[in-house]
Amino acid sequence: MHVSFQPAVDLAAAVAAAGRQLGFADSEFSSEVRTADPRHGDFQANGVLAYAKLHKANPRALAEKVVAALPSEILSICDASLAGPGFINFRLRPTALLAWLQQYGSARQLEEGAAGLHRGQHYVVDFSSPNTAKQLHVGHIRGMVIGEAICRMLAFCGATVIRDNHIGDWGTQFGKLIWGYKNLRNDEALARDPLEELERLYKAADAATKERPEVLEAARAELVKLQAGDAENLALWNRINAISSGAFEEIYRKLDIRFDHQLGESFYNDKLTPVYGELSRLGLATESEGALVVFHPEHPRFNTQPFIIRKSDGAANYASTDLATMLYRVEHFGADAIVILTDARQTDHFEQLWLTTQKWFAATGRRLPRFEHVSFGSILGEDGKAIKTRSGDPIRLKALLSEAEERAFALVSTKSPELPETERREIAAAVGIGAVRYADLSQNRSSDYVFTWDKILSLEGNTAPYLLYAVARIHSIFRRHGVDPADPAAVAAAAPPESEAEFALARKLVALASTLELTTSQLRPHFLCTYLYELAGAYSAFYAADKVLVDDPAVRARRLLLCARTLLVLESGLRLLGLRTLGRM
Ligand code: ARG
Repeated sequence: MHVSFQPAVDLAAAVAAAGRQLGFADSEFSSEVRTADPRHGDFQANGVLAYAKLHKANPRALAEKVVAALPSEILSICDASLAGPGFINFRLRPTALLAWLQQYGSARQLEEGAAGLHRGQHYVVDFSSPNTAKQLHVGHIRGMVIGEAICRMLAFCGATVIRDNHIGDWGTQFGKLIWGYKNLRNDEALARDPLEELERLYKAADAATKERPEVLEAARAELVKLQAGDAENLALWNRINAISSGAFEEIYRKLDIRFDHQLGESFYNDKLTPVYGELSRLGLATESEGALVVFHPEHPRFNTQPFIIRKSDGAANYASTDLATMLYRVEHFGADAIVILTDARQTDHFEQLWLTTQKWFAATGRRLPRFEHVSFGSILGEDGKAIKTRSGDPIRLKALLSEAEERAFALVSTKSPELPETERREIAAAVGIGAVRYADLSQNRSSDYVFTWDKILSLEGNTAPYLLYAVARIHSIFRRHGVDPADPAAVAAAAPPESEAEFALARKLVALASTLELTTSQLRPHFLCTYLYELAGAYSAFYAADKVLVDDPAVRARRLLLCARTLLVLESGLRLLGLRTLGRM
């Protein structure tokens, strides 16, 4: 028996076939199959309801006909029953559950199964994208970890993913930065903590421009020189960017984040003029008070508040660059989908960008990609306000991550004092960084959340330590009994589930497929987190109810298979979220 990675796909095909056999028009009958309330079944099809309403027929009778017309092969995989006014519920048969568990027995097999979800699609994911010469602080972490998780999940599900760090490396801040660098630089500080010094230089220069008009003039002059290609300023600009990127890189390495490209805003400098030209020629952009703007009259807010795509002094802005970026990503990367991550404060910008792009591409006959602005809320301190240090500054990401490791080290040292220090350090890195990361990913990204050390480092609840511990515990079962979780002989000997806890766990494992679909279609990693947490719960319930290492070889084999697959799915899922898992804790 072969069962699809996502059994709902087979079921939908079967329902569609039944509909066709009954003469239902495809356009009137939806064969969609969704995940069902587990009390009633694994999957449910309710396309009959709308069809019956349309034809004023009895839905229940119609559903009966659909069930009777289902191709017989599908009934060897699941059984179908009617419920309510005409729902069709499907329950996977025990043999199908076993077949699924046997078929998807390695990370590679899971990936091959999942690849059907987004096969062949080209995604450009623009994430992290910090501004040059500014420290990364806690507010930057969401975009990084959510972005990395989204990239990993999409790639796992078959997409070609192009990761682009769209660094804010161009703009008016460079006038002040260059002036500050030339006039206020402390070389010793620059060598010690380059980003810190650059940030100080920017702040000091900014303050000086406010106090002394001649400094403002000088900073403007530096900017003009840079934009005109002055060699000295260009070299300084390069140097500032290099210092800045080096510091970012350190954090990316710590967080296992990587990029394929770091094109940055400056990359689009020479690609802006044609954009202004096209939009003006098409009549989409108009001059308003010296600026070039795009109105969206059909949109109440953007009718009065247009999208400014070139400033009144003729300079480019964020919008100019982003329009050129959209075009480049479609033309150069062949993007089918463009995903940009920023916090929710930029929602208006991206709405206007997308409205403009749609009209622009339609008017020029260009292929329109999908666009997703993946926005997120803020991280709050325990007082419910934006998280800050005691002195009121934003918390540096570097400091936050070190603190996470230190706290995790203390935790591991009390829990497992017998382990050598190097091992405890390694565990602490995985647990500490994992905890910060998971705390973020497990929240619906649209909401703000409160960051509390005790909560995120707790061994109970929906936390990284809980899940990492669950993984380590399963490893230890296999270790203690000298069995390899990947041993194919053990898998072959297994029989279908029998006990209630075995069934519940097996079903949860198969639900990985629908979870990945939901997570990647909504680009919301918290769905995967919730799933893994529930899977760990189903495993605990199974482990408490059913002894695994019993004498009866048949029972033992089928329970070991469940342990092995739980381990595989937990580890694979956590890796997709960017966590490192441990063999022992
Ligand atoms: N640098 C911007 C910021 O820090 C984020 C850039 C996001 N990407 C983009 N294509 N606009 O707010």
